[in-house]
Amino acid sequence: MSKIICVANQKGGVGKTTTAINLAYSLSVLENRVLLIDADPQANSTSHLGFDPKNIRLGLYELLVQDLNPSDAILDTKYDYLKILPANIDLVGAEIEMIDLPNRERILSRLLEKVRGSYDFIIIDCSPSLGLITTNALGASDSVLIPVQCEYFALEGLGKLLNTIKIVQRSINTKLEIEGLVLTMYDSRLRLSNQVVEEVKLHFQQLVFDTIIKRNTTLSEAPSFGLPVLEHDATAAGSVGYLNLARELLQKNGLTKISEEERIIQ
Ligand SMILES: Nc1ncnc2c1ncn2[C@@H]1O[C@H](COP(=O)(O)OP(=O)(O)OP(=O)(O)O)[C@@H](O)[C@H]1O
Ligand SMILES: [Mg+2]
Repeated sequence: MSKIICVANQKGGVGKTTTAINLAYSLSVLENRVLLIDADPQANSTSHLGFDPKNIRLGLYELLVQDLNPSDAILDTKYDYLKILPANIDLVGAEIEMIDLPNRERILSRLLEKVRGSYDFIIIDCSPSLGLITTNALGASDSVLIPVQCEYFALEGLGKLLNTIKIVQRSINTKLEIEGLVLTMYDSRLRLSNQVVEEVKLHFQQLVFDTIIKRNTTLSEAPSFGLPVLEHDATAAGSVGYLNLARELLQKNGLTKISEEERIIQ
């Protein structure tokens, strides 16, 4: 089975890139073949994995507007089971350049058909926008994973995202599902964090992952070392959190049979 999951929320700074990178890496550590796609002109996923976006000559932008084969742009990482389709700042221009292309919302979907057979998971890191590139990511995906930050206005904008998902389901990609909502940057000492968890669970119930990602300084340091957090410090709460998220996702998809007791205790 191969599954394409996009990590999306048009609210900025909620943990999309942190989730995409560390979930992708954790799935790869569990011996799944993973392709991480950087679909954000900020190219944070690209640099987080140790690549300099300025040196990326062939990235998602070139694929989208020149209709190349994705294999031409996919790069090996330092890790056996993880590859990346990087981005550079040029991706900003793709939105405008794609406007006149036929079937402009389905370009990424068509491209990924050529390579999806080589991976167990393709994880797409979206930008904080609901523009054409994010629409392409939703159009190409089997499911969408939504990080929700345990902060003020956590639910702000979620209605708009869910509405966009509905439109995509109706018009571009009828098989798109919601993989789940992941609560991020949780701080058990803060009443606000606990209120957000309650509120999100009340609204979205079984769609919310049991795994909650804690606020963890090591997670925010790891990008400056160009490393997934698990490589930077395997004992950090963030490493354990994302490994648990990967295992829960595999379990939800019927891909492992781990029992609750086997889960690493956070
Ligand atoms: N659990 C966490 N604990 C501490 N810091 C975190 C955590 N998750 C993310 N961060 C930090 O918060 C900031 C925003 O995270 P991230 O870049 O993953 O969000 P994003 O949704 O991808 O942002 P954007 O919308 O700009 O793409 C980063 O500096 C990141 O290192
Ligand atoms: Mg990001």
